[in-house]
Amino acid sequence: MTLTGSELAGQDTVVVGGTGNVGVFLVDAFVRAGARVLVPSRSRDKIDRLLTRLGPDKARHVVGLIGDIGSAGSAAALQSQVQDEAGTLRAVAAAPAGWHQTHSMLRAGFDDFKAVIENSLFPHYLAAQTFLPLLDSGGSYTSINGPVGFLGPPQPGIGPMAVVSIAQNKLTQAFAVETGGTPRVNDVVMMAFIGPNGTRPGSHLSGEQVGDYVTALASPAGATMHSQTLHLRDPRQVEAALAGDFTSPA
Ligand SMILES: NC(=O)c1ccc[n+]([C@@H]2O[C@H](COP(=O)([O-])OP(=O)(O)OC[C@H]3O[C@@H](n4cnc5c(N)ncnc54)[C@H](OP(=O)(O)O)[C@@H]3O)[C@@H](O)[C@H]2O)c1
Repeated sequence: MTLTGSELAGQDTVVVGGTGNVGVFLVDAFVRAGARVLVPSRSRDKIDRLLTRLGPDKARHVVGLIGDIGSAGSAAALQSQVQDEAGTLRAVAAAPAGWHQTHSMLRAGFDDFKAVIENSLFPHYLAAQTFLPLLDSGGSYTSINGPVGFLGPPQPGIGPMAVVSIAQNKLTQAFAVETGGTPRVNDVVMMAFIGPNGTRPGSHLSGEQVGDYVTALASPAGATMHSQTLHLRDPRQVEAALAGDFTSPA
């Protein structure tokens, strides 16, 4: 089973981090679901690379916007740009910021920790603050998370990312409580390994499957899903999600 093009047909959507390793697959899937996708980026070159990677047929459904969700002021400017371009949104997926690792969290020191929080956690707050108000009441906001915060005590050097991951999850839950389901807000903790050239060897899930899952969640198939932390580990979950079943396999 795959996307048919009807799931988000004619809808406006945003992928925050859409130029990134994961984001490109989210953009691709939203387009395959029939949506127009707005992609904010700090870099024209990265937007051009995204469009080239998608190819001309898909690229014509993508609108690149130069913008930054790194500060409250720049995020507000981006919100105005999106409002001017699209008005109301049906779906937002947020996958900003990538991986960070040091040999030792303690030896890397406070500046390193502070930089990780600022670069990887704050964009999640600002993405939600910026785009939740633009979603229609039946819309969907999905935060993309990784497993690092959910695996027990972090190994040396991945402490800051584990802190970000758990804080991102709590942030998303807090936003979900505030919206009460209009729009829906969920956190997808995905166990895929995706790099600049696509799905990494050995990953159980492909980037396309992650895109399909997040799109199913944003579509009518996910209409009952709100305030959930969804652990995506297995390709069978993608098939089930496309059919409207988001329960995890035993
Ligand atoms: N990659 C994986 O295998 C994997 C696995 C599990 C979970 N995740 C999660 O998925 C998310 C994305 O990971 P990734 O590997 O795709 O990272 P990535 O390749 O570094 O992409 C992150 C994107 O975020 C955008 N971004 C960052 N700060 C921004 C800002 N201030 N304003 C606007 N855009 C900003 C960047 O866009 P511009 O540079 O174009 O502005 C960049 O394209 C992370 O939260 C990560 O934890 C990833």
